[in-house]
Amino acid sequence: MTTAINPEATLGQLVTENPALSRVFEALGLDYCCGGGKTLAEACHAHGLDPDAVRDEIARVEASSSESQPNPADMSLTELADHIEQTHHAYLREVLSALQTMSAKVASAHAGKDPRLVEVDRVVRNLAHELESHTLKEERILFPAIRRLDAGQPLQGFTCGALENPIHVMEMEHDEAGQALERLRTLTDGYTIPDWACNTCRGLLTELERLEKDLHLHIHKENNILFPRTLERESAGTN
Ligand SMILES: [Fe+2]
Ligand SMILES: [Fe+2]
Repeated sequence: MTTAINPEATLGQLVTENPALSRVFEALGLDYCCGGGKTLAEACHAHGLDPDAVRDEIARVEASSSESQPNPADMSLTELADHIEQTHHAYLREVLSALQTMSAKVASAHAGKDPRLVEVDRVVRNLAHELESHTLKEERILFPAIRRLDAGQPLQGFTCGALENPIHVMEMEHDEAGQALERLRTLTDGYTIPDWACNTCRGLLTELERLEKDLHLHIHKENNILFPRTLERESAGTN
């Protein structure tokens, strides 16, 4: 069966239209957030995947995905900023400190069995610090400005057309977070739980994989929906 899905659509566009497709792309290892500008055809080619088989899988998920979850693409800028804070930022606040405690414990107890655990601990700590500072910048500076833009109010502290710069900085930080996740996936052989794993090691690998999925979705909502729509709105208001 070959479907009518356009192979020239970008991965970011496909997940924007149907958020359930994030599961298909996660399972295939296709980056739809930081690398969301790649077309389906380009991504399949780069990963040696059969485009027809991937399109069939997309069609299957599209046909079975429920409509019960609100689609971020249907939200206003304010609703989407609120949603990102209440779900993804709240999740990070809940998990980052526990992840650092677990990675330090696992590195000190088991580095003799796998020396890469020392590097896992270093990457987890750096990523946690970067994400704490990144989400604060969004919550204190960028998202309040986006809400003001959405309400048609003047942007206090920003000159005309100036949201492009902070958005660009946030996108660069997303790329860095994406690279840290790739490093963690490599260092842990795709979050494979070793035979000798204790409960903390098991918990660490399970939580890191969950962090990867959540961060991919989080960055997709900002890079592919919130930020481009904010820039469109800002430029419409200044023209
Ligand atoms: Fe965010
Ligand atoms: Fe962000």
